[in-house]
Amino acid sequence: MKIVESVASMQSLRHSWSKRVGFVPTMGALHEGHATLIKRARTECEHVCVSLFVNPTQFNDPQDLDRYPKPKEQDLVLLRTLDVDAVFAPPASEIYSDNYRFSVHESLSAKILCGAKRPGHFAGVLTVVLKLLNLVRPHKAYFGEKDFQQLRLIQEMVQAFFLPSEIVACPTVREADGLAMSSRNLLLSATERELAPALYHILVMADSASTARQQLHARGFKVDYVEEHWGRRFGAAFLGPVRLIDNVEL
Ligand code: PAJ
Repeated sequence: MKIVESVASMQSLRHSWSKRVGFVPTMGALHEGHATLIKRARTECEHVCVSLFVNPTQFNDPQDLDRYPKPKEQDLVLLRTLDVDAVFAPPASEIYSDNYRFSVHESLSAKILCGAKRPGHFAGVLTVVLKLLNLVRPHKAYFGEKDFQQLRLIQEMVQAFFLPSEIVACPTVREADGLAMSSRNLLLSATERELAPALYHILVMADSASTARQQLHARGFKVDYVEEHWGRRFGAAFLGPVRLIDNVEL
C-alpha cells in the first residue's frame, strides 16, 4: 500500500495506473461504513485509492475541527487489511496552495438542511471533492447515503462540470441498534451513545416531521432540523456537543 502525501506524487502514481480506478474520499476515523465503500471499490476496480484528509474548509466551527478524531495509524492498519493500493493523506497546504481563493458554490440544494445550519460547509465539501476528483481522476468514486445531501450535491456538481467520474451511491451502514455509523459517534458519552439510535427510529416511525422534532426534543436531543425533501426525511440533532445526522426514505 502506497502512502502518498503530495499532489505531485499522487499525480505521478495516477499516471502509472492503466486500469479502472476506484476512489473513496474520507476524513479518516474509519469505521465499517467507510469499509463498505472501500470493499465495493475493491470488487469493481483494479486500482483502489482512499483519501484521508480532514478538510478544514468544510468545518464552520473550529472546535468541531479540533475535536474531530484523527487516529491515522489505526486507519492505515485497517486500509492495509482492505487491500487498498494507495492512501492519499496530504497536509492542508498541498490541497490549498491557493489559500482557498477558489471555491465551488452551489446556490440551491446547498442552501437547505445542513447548508442552512452550517454556513460554508458545502462550499468546502464541493471544493475539496472537485480537487480530489481532478487529482485521482477515478472511473468510479464512492459516497454514502448517510450524507445524502452531500451525495446529491456531488452528483449534481459532476454533471454541471462534465466531470468524467461516475458517482456510486452506497446505502447507509448502521450499528445493530440502528445508529448510523459515523466518526463522530466516538465522541459520544456512554449515556449519549445509548440515546443516539433514537434519532434513526424516530425518523422512521414518526408520522410527520414536526412529530419527529417533538419526540426528539422530549428524548433530550437538541434538534437542528427535521425536514422532508426529495422523498426522504432528514434529521440533525445534538447530543451534548456532538451533532448527529441521519436520513431515511419516506
Ligand atoms: P467522511 O465523513 O469521512 O465520509 C466519507 C464517506 O463515507 C462519505 O461518502 C460518507 O457518506 C460515507 N459514510 C460515512 N458514514 C457512512 C455510513 N454509516 N454508511 C455509509 N456511508 C458512510 O463525508 C466526508 O467524509 C467528507 O465530507 C468528504 C466527502 C471526504 C469531503 O471532505
